[in-house]
Parts: sequence; structure tokens; C-alpha cells
Amino acid sequence: MSSIIIALDGYSSCGKSTTAKHVAKELGYAYIDTGAMYRAVTLYFIQNHISITNPYEVSKALSNIQVGFRRHHETKSNDTFLNGMNVENEIRKMYVSERVSEVSAVAEVRHAMVAQQQKMGKGKGIVMDGRDIGTVVFPEAELKIFMTADSYMRAQRRQAELLAKGEMVGLPEILANLQKRDHIDAHREESPLRQAEDALLIDTTYLTVDEQVELVVRLADERIGQAVRRREKK
Ligand code: DC
Repeated sequence: MSSIIIALDGYSSCGKSTTAKHVAKELGYAYIDTGAMYRAVTLYFIQNHISITNPYEVSKALSNIQVGFRRHHETKSNDTFLNGMNVENEIRKMYVSERVSEVSAVAEVRHAMVAQQQKMGKGKGIVMDGRDIGTVVFPEAELKIFMTADSYMRAQRRQAELLAKGEMVGLPEILANLQKRDHIDAHREESPLRQAEDALLIDTTYLTVDEQVELVVRLADERIGQAVRRREKK
């Protein structure tokens, strides 16, 4: 069977990572949550008081940061590690969400993360979600999806996620954070969030997770079939 790269981009909290995780499982592919990588860098910057306007501090910090993923033996989830520490819960908290867009707009941060992401996807058979996967990280990805959803619906989903982890945050605060992040992500100079020309748009406002997964798996099967036929022709 031929393996492909699936790039899943879009706005914050419209179901990208949940969909990506399930699709990867169905296809037996690896899943890389690139937002988690930017969140881990942000956590390091917060903990070490790194000033994002000081290029020397930023580059020194980046050389001291190791971000990776490991499968949790009990929950079977892919946890994010920062310099050997499991930071999966910490990076999802509001104080990190509040800073992550500023940190991920720094060109040097992006260059370091993109280089790592390209290395991770080299062998294909990967589902990667983020903001610039189809445009910058893997412009040659065989399947590109761009996800969007009504912002009120996204805020409600995010609130439920935070609540499940014990963090109670009001809807207006979450909505404001999502809208601020979307604005910064879409207007930054370095690789802004935008739909790649060849990406398929999926609005998840009225879709269940199962429906999203089914749709993406169906599209992936088509593209895998095409990749196989292309290879056979050669
Ligand atoms: O997917 P997420 O909401 O966990 O991502 C957190 C932030 O990281 C998001 O607001 C923008 C940034 N990000 C990015 O700039 N590029 C990516 N490929 C993934 C995330």
C-alpha cells in the first residue's frame, strides 16, 4: 500500500486534532499535532522568561528545547514532551493559549519547528495538523484539508475540553482568545494561516466527529488509490 501525507489546517478548535487522531488510527498512520509543538515552546518561553523581541534569547532558548511525542502506556494517547518532561496537560491550559500565537509568529521559532516537522513526515504515512502544513511544511502533501466552523460552536467545544481537564473558563473569555489567536495566526508575516489553493474546505459546524473522520478517511482512500496507480504507471 502506498503512504501519503495528510495535511489538516484550519482555525483553532474546529476539530482538527480530534479528527486527525482518529484518521491516523484508522489508516495506521502517525499523527503529529504541530500546535502542541508551538505550545511546548511557548511553555518553555514562559517558564524561562524569554523575551520574544530579543533574537539572542530566542535563538539560545530554541537550541535548548527538545520537543517530542511519546505514547502514554495507560491512556494510549500521544503525549507531548518538553526536554524529557510530560507537558501534555500543562500546554493546554489557558495561560499557554494566551501566549502561543505571539510566540508562534516569531520567524525563528517557525523555522525550527518546520524543520523538525519536515523530518517527522519524511517517511510519509502521516497525518499532521496545524496552520501551515499544506502551505509551508508539506506543500506537496497528497491530501490537504482546511477546516473551519462557527466561532461560537468552536468556543463551546473548547470550553467542554477545558472542563474535562478541570479548568473552568467562561465562554466570552474562550471566544475572545479564539478570535484573537485566529487574527494573529492569519495576519502574521511569517507563514500565516491560509487555505492552500488545492486544499478542500470542510465546515465542521454541523458535523459530528464520526462524520468528520469518515469524510477525511474516504478522501484519503481516494488519494492513496491515486498514489498507487501513479506508482504502478512509472
Ligand atoms: O492547534 P492549536 O490550537 O493547539 O495551536 C496553538 C497555536 O499554535 C495556534 O494558535 C497557532 C500556532 N500554530 C502555528 O502557528 N502553526 C502550526 N502549524 C500549528 C499551530
